[in-house]
Formats: sequence, structure tokens, C-alpha cells
Amino acid sequence: MTATDPAPLAEGGWDRIFVVGAGPGAPDLITVRGLRLLERADLVVYAGSLVPTALLDAVPEGARVVDSAGMALREIVATLADGFNAGMRVVRLQTGDTSLFSAQMEQMRALAERGIPVEIVPGVSSANAAAAVLGVEFTLPEISQTVIYSRAAGRTPVPEGENLPSLAAHGATLVLFLSVQMIHRVVEQLAQGGYAPDTPVAVVHKATWPEQRIVRGTLENIVERVRDAGIKMTALIVVGRVLEGATLPEAEFHYSKLYDPGFGHGFRRRAGAAGV
Ligand SMILES: C[S@@+](CC[C@H](N)C(=O)[O-])C[C@H]1O[C@@H](n2cnc3c(N)ncnc32)[C@H](O)[C@@H]1O
Repeated sequence: MTATDPAPLAEGGWDRIFVVGAGPGAPDLITVRGLRLLERADLVVYAGSLVPTALLDAVPEGARVVDSAGMALREIVATLADGFNAGMRVVRLQTGDTSLFSAQMEQMRALAERGIPVEIVPGVSSANAAAAVLGVEFTLPEISQTVIYSRAAGRTPVPEGENLPSLAAHGATLVLFLSVQMIHRVVEQLAQGGYAPDTPVAVVHKATWPEQRIVRGTLENIVERVRDAGIKMTALIVVGRVLEGATLPEAEFHYSKLYDPGFGHGFRRRAGAAGV
């Protein structure tokens, strides 16, 4: 049995708690591994604010299902730990991917203090889902080779070195979580940091949910458009010229080296090279 093969674990009790990324919204965007674990769980503690309840249909009848939306950290950890210590197969189901803005580390530390091992099963982040529904690639040659995931400072502060104007100064692709309710201030700070007024911006609300909405614009007009659309939460703000990737004139589009016939690499020899 290895850490990357949960199948044998499923047959008997589990020797760890699985923290599973539920994906961005559409219930079939969980991983196969995550779904298999849900199908065998005795206790599922899920983040009810954003995890699609349709996923809970996969949980066996008779299993205990707990919504953590109204619970504090101590209560969540106690529920997970008590279930595990009673021999239950326990899944902690979190929204999107567990590595981004999920408060996962504080839960893992508390479980580690109790001597309970945890294995993470990654999920599809809403950032990945936003790129998909926008039909964009976040990294394009000569435009941006960097993606910054961040948020505006709100009740949760952001370290001083990561303030929005300093992030904007990179001109990279920027994906902001938990910030749409402050979009007016966000746009001011991004402009202050150096994005041009005509920089493309997209706001994606509830990507892959039935109620998904997309608002597109530029730094100059996005505030008004988002206000008109009435989007106040559960959205990502995506900023950068990569949003124009599909519509750039051919002369301005830069091709990657990956599929360039004149460029060889470990899996493909350069066209015209000896023997090719
Ligand atoms: C607590 S964070 C969780 C992020 C999650 N771990 C992820 O990987 O997507 C919640 C924020 O993520 C963003 N979010 C989550 N799901 C979303 C979706 N389906 N569409 C757009 N934004 C989403 C919103 O900014 C929301 O306020």
C-alpha cells in the first residue's frame, strides 16, 4: 500500500483522514480518487458554503454527513478526530483545490497535534475552472509567463510586500480570490501599480455552477459592469493581456517553442536535424 494508492485503504478501516478538493462547483469536476473516497466514507465533513451538495449523493447510505459552514475550527477538528478515533473512514471535503485559501493548514496542524495522519487529494481550483470557462491560457509567450494568485486585503490582512500596487507592477496575469466585493478599490490599486487602463479584466461568478456568470471589460469599465451585473461574492477577478489570447491578430500572437518544428527537445527532435 502506498500513499498514492487509496484503493487498498478503502477495503477496511483507513489509517488517515483524507482531505479532498471537491472542485469548483460542477459535481463531476471532483477527481476520480476523491469520488472513490467519498463512496467509501463513513463520515464526510464538507464546507457547505461552496461544496455542491450533489456530491453528497456519492456518500453511502447511513454515513454521517456534516456541514461545517456554521462550525468553528475547534468543532470541525473535534468532529473529524472523534470520527477517526471511533474507527470511521473520514473525508474532509473542501471547495476547489485545498492549496488555495482553504484554511486547510490549521486543520492539518490540529489533527497532527492529535497524532492523526492526513492525506491530501487535490482538486480543480476555481482558478482553473475560470480559465476554462473563459477559454484562456493564463501563460502566453511574450505576454505573461507568470500567474499571481492573491486577494485584496479585507478583514484578512495581506503581507505588506504583497499589496496590490506592487503585484500590479509585474504586469503578469493576476487572479484575485475573495475580492469582488471590493472591486472599486481593487481597480484603483491595480491602476496605481501600473496596469494600463485598457488592460482586459474578466470577473467569473460561480464558475461551472448552473448560475455561472462572466463579465468582461477593461480596468476602465469593469467596476460599472460588475455593479450592473450585481455580482458581490463567489467570483474571481482575472486581469491581464492573456485574456485577449484568442482574438489577438496573428501578427501579434507569439507561438510557443513546445510545438515549434524548429525547436527540438527530449520528446521530439528538431525538424531538419540529422536523421529527422
Ligand atoms: C475560501 S476561497 C476557496 C478557494 C478554493 N480553495 C479554490 O481552489 O477555488 C473562496 C473564494 O474562491 C473563489 N471561488 C470559489 N469557487 C468559485 C467558483 N466556482 N467561481 C468563481 N470563484 C470561486 C471566490 O473568490 C470565493 O470567494
